[in-house]
Amino acid sequence: MTNFWQKLPKPFTVLAPMDDVTDNVFRQVVMEAGRPDVFFTEFTSADGLVYNSHGIPLRKLTFTPGQHPIVAQIWGKDPMLMEKAAGIVADLGFDGIDINMGCPVREVMKRGAGAGLIGNYDLSGEIIKSVKNGAGKIPVSVKTRLGKNENIAREWCTFLLKQNIATLTIHARTAKQMSASPADWNEVAEIVKIKNEISPETVIIGNGDVKSYDEVIVLSEKYGVDGVMIGRGIFSNPWVFNPTTLALRGVRQDYIDLLLKHIDLFEKTWGDTKNFAIIKKFFKMYINNFKGASILRQKLMEAKSFEEIKKQLE
Ligand SMILES: Cc1cc2nc3c(=O)[nH]c(=O)nc-3n(C[C@H](O)[C@H](O)[C@H](O)COP(=O)(O)O)c2cc1C
Repeated sequence: MTNFWQKLPKPFTVLAPMDDVTDNVFRQVVMEAGRPDVFFTEFTSADGLVYNSHGIPLRKLTFTPGQHPIVAQIWGKDPMLMEKAAGIVADLGFDGIDINMGCPVREVMKRGAGAGLIGNYDLSGEIIKSVKNGAGKIPVSVKTRLGKNENIAREWCTFLLKQNIATLTIHARTAKQMSASPADWNEVAEIVKIKNEISPETVIIGNGDVKSYDEVIVLSEKYGVDGVMIGRGIFSNPWVFNPTTLALRGVRQDYIDLLLKHIDLFEKTWGDTKNFAIIKKFFKMYINNFKGASILRQKLMEAKSFEEIKKQLE
């Protein structure tokens, strides 16, 4: 059965799931600058979704019609809850469901979820099967790392590729490496070779340290991936997915306009439901690398309302 992953251009681009960053509002800002081919939500707890803890997990799963194709990422370790969560996600109109098998955060790993699942073959197989049951017709994918402490990617990804998943995203580091060491793209190329042998229809996305659209083209050719996922690269260049607006990079007013757009969407979308101070962690992304940026940023950090921020920016 064909799914949306197989219809994407090659190489395609993906905005990485980033918790507390790539929410509905941020994704709309990215769309303004230049959209990737595929969006992911932030990771969302399957347990939280099923028990609807204060509505927060559901809030993470809001999106606008323009964001299709969009994939909801869920995490957890209980196959039954993962299956129920997949059903909820499918009903919300997502194009795909991704299982997080790569999160290195201690509280997640300690529970045996996220990267804690790496190497836990029986449970991971059960989870994938359950999520597929819950997902119905929408494709199920997995995002993982090279290993927990050691690189076991070839064995681990061979296993994953035998589970008949639509797409596999490989963040080319172990959990222990967090985001510090350079991503090992040679290892991604090895996984591509394995998938060509045992599951040629599975789509492979490479992830780690990509900072420009040019690199998307170079890396996909060199390492044979179908798509490239970019996370932190969006912080230094919000136009990273837009091959046509390279000239805009670094123009002060464009960054300020984008921040104003972000504030506007934040107010409209979240109102009082999200703490206003959350916007402050984005200042470094927009107010950076131009004359007077650090002084302006300092003033913005002291602001106590959206109005004050806007006044400073004007
Ligand atoms: C702030 C932050 C939050 C993240 N949250 C998630 C998440 O919710 N789910 C996930 O699979 N990965 C998450 N990641 C990992 C990214 O998706 C990506 O795999 C990682 O940043 C490597 O890509 P990069 O080098 O392009 O940033 C997060 C990373 C960052 C920096």
